[in-house]
Amino acid sequence: MPAMTFDLFDALPADSNAPPAVETLAPGAVVLHGFARDAGPELLAAVQTISAEAPFRHLITPGGLRMSVAMTNCGERGWVSDRTGYRYDAVDPESGRPWPAMPAVFRSLAEHAAEAAGYPGFAPDACLINRYLPGTRLSLHQDRDELDLRAPIVSVSMGLPAVFLWGGLRRADRPGRFRLAHGDVVVWGGPSRLVFHGIAPLADGDHALTGSERINLTFRKTR
Ligand code: SIN
Ligand code: FE2
Repeated sequence: MPAMTFDLFDALPADSNAPPAVETLAPGAVVLHGFARDAGPELLAAVQTISAEAPFRHLITPGGLRMSVAMTNCGERGWVSDRTGYRYDAVDPESGRPWPAMPAVFRSLAEHAAEAAGYPGFAPDACLINRYLPGTRLSLHQDRDELDLRAPIVSVSMGLPAVFLWGGLRRADRPGRFRLAHGDVVVWGGPSRLVFHGIAPLADGDHALTGSERINLTFRKTR
């Protein structure tokens, strides 16, 4: 069977089963469908510039496993993992240099999305950039390396669609499955800030802007 193809308007509601523009996952957590669609080309061009300076890499978990998702960062601090643990670091350990600055278009999108989701005044200092290829997955985890848990997480999906796994506050809570398409933005905070979440193995496909990749940006206030 040929791989599925996705065009730029993939996220437009096409039938009565389409989710509403703002889909609630849980108290404090929403998907803003299509929120970043118009900015997509500019965001992706910025990802190219950032990854030319700080290349995507497969980090090693504290347990010694190589992560299937490839990562880089921009902003004042970047999320890194190695045999000693997880941390935010002002320096890219591969180059010894500071991470590339957060582009204005990133910051503005994250602030507007947070505000639209009910979190005005969000001021991210870090953006983790994840790259998924078909088969790449991200197992259930909490985002809890940030010092100020009052700030939400803002997560932007681009390129191939994915299935977002959205669980509960306990690892054992069985996750629901939500489709994230190009331009969708998930915001979670408040009572949902420490919910376990992940990404199911990415299906094969071809997207007009990214080819066979999914790119995710997650904005955080780390301190
Ligand atoms: C993450 O949990 O950090 C990324 C989620 C995603 O790729 O949508
Ligand atoms: Fe996460």
